[in-house]
Amino acid sequence: MDIHSEKILILDFGSQYTQLIARRVREAHVYCELHPFDMNFEAIKEFAPRGIILSGGPKSVYDDGAPAVEEALFDLGIPVLGICYGMQLLARHFGGNVVPTGKREYGHADLVSQNTPGPLFDGFFIDGKSPVWMSHGDHVEKIPDGFEIIAQTDNAPVAAIQNVDRNLYGVQFHPEVNHTPRGEIIVDTFVRKICRCQGQWTPGKIIEYAVTSIREQVGTDQVILGLSGGVDSSVAAALIKRAIGDQLTCVFVDNGLLRLAEGDQVMATFAENMGVKVIRVNAEDRFLQGLSGETDPEQKRRIIGNLFIDIFEEEAARITNATWLAQGTIYPDVIESAGGKTGKAQNIKSHHNVGGLPDYMKLKLLEPLKELFKDEVRAIGEELGLPHQMVWRHPFPGPGLGVRILGEVKKEYADILRQADAIYIEELYTSGYYDKISQAFAVFLPVKSVGVMGDGRTYEYVITLRAVETKDFMTADWSKLPYALLSRISSRIINEVRGVNRVAYDISSKPPSTIEWE
Ligand code: XMP
Repeated sequence: MDIHSEKILILDFGSQYTQLIARRVREAHVYCELHPFDMNFEAIKEFAPRGIILSGGPKSVYDDGAPAVEEALFDLGIPVLGICYGMQLLARHFGGNVVPTGKREYGHADLVSQNTPGPLFDGFFIDGKSPVWMSHGDHVEKIPDGFEIIAQTDNAPVAAIQNVDRNLYGVQFHPEVNHTPRGEIIVDTFVRKICRCQGQWTPGKIIEYAVTSIREQVGTDQVILGLSGGVDSSVAAALIKRAIGDQLTCVFVDNGLLRLAEGDQVMATFAENMGVKVIRVNAEDRFLQGLSGETDPEQKRRIIGNLFIDIFEEEAARITNATWLAQGTIYPDVIESAGGKTGKAQNIKSHHNVGGLPDYMKLKLLEPLKELFKDEVRAIGEELGLPHQMVWRHPFPGPGLGVRILGEVKKEYADILRQADAIYIEELYTSGYYDKISQAFAVFLPVKSVGVMGDGRTYEYVITLRAVETKDFMTADWSKLPYALLSRISSRIINEVRGVNRVAYDISSKPPSTIEWE
């Protein structure tokens, strides 16, 4: 069976949680796509979903011009689950009444089962109750004919509704967020029991499908791929290698802004162990020269990005018959780069290279991961036999240490930072903390402070340690690493790295800070 034959459609009304809904559906091993609420109705029918989920959103259904769906959507006979705004839309469509709550309800609530909850809540309640996460300013006051209330909370007498005959369900709370413990049971039940999906979307089948489609697309052509050592490009390389073997050539640009021994590790994993053709370009001098004198973070990003393209292009030109450029674009990159519609994503930093290289390169794009979320990419990486440490690596920004050396980048600074960072990461691994946090790294501050070593005065640089916990990297908390661990890392860095006499720990959350310092 084709892994895309069971599909769930998620229509996005602008909630910050919409991507989480998609991830929960995928965790139930069912393929889903996320589209704007005003997706063309013909396109919806053509997509032929087994079920439709209407997301939450910031608007009120009774506002003029409030986002809505084609009315005929509810007559398709396809099961629908409305979440928050989605439930209000459903209720209003069938003649119910939605009113302002008076006071926005935000936070935990105890959901209590009402009447006889039908299939949606199968296995969800424990003793008729379950904690849920609420975030809404409106609620359904009067439910439509044909529907019944199946759950309530103290503040929301209509917290969930159903019309089992028509397979229509609405929940006022957010089953998709981690703050709703066991919420995944609801999504799983909806897609598997109500929409009757069997769950074809598994790592093994995704690989099988990707291998076939890469072979079909590429034929006998040659493919090039820019390998960065990060999870996405590594998994893309492993997958494409599995599909077309020697038709793949990877270009790995060592820009002098990599972590300690990173270049050697990438070569060992791909070239030596997996037999992938990898061209390693040592371009440290070019990058350092290009960055010389530049202190502005966005300019630094631009210089690094442009140089990468120049070098990549030079190498690509040397490979005969290379007509394809492979990239490790993943589904969130696709959603976010198409996401101007809701006007959410403000450009704080120019992060992602979605859109690839300039048009004049004339290469066709091969993006085998573009339907996958990060956790799915990782699952595939493990299945393809990539080392655990590579698959579960913390994210590393494209501009590398370039944005972790504040201000002007110099080789001396990069060498100091590399050593300090390596000690930090090694200690996180040995203490078992690496896998418990989302991202950790050291930052080089180009300021000197006074210290004392032995009997002498020192006047040396400062290293800051950053560690954060986050689900989506949009918001993050600083990690409460144990003092004993921080103490060991600090003394090792000061003792082992020449040029550093002070280590600080960053205790800022995002927002208002960002994860990287630049
Ligand atoms: P911020 O600093 O914006 O970072 O809180 C959020 C996540 O994005 C990564 N990041 C980047 N990734 N190119 C990248 O590919 C970049 O220029 C860049 N800047 C930040 C950062 O490491 C974190 O995971």
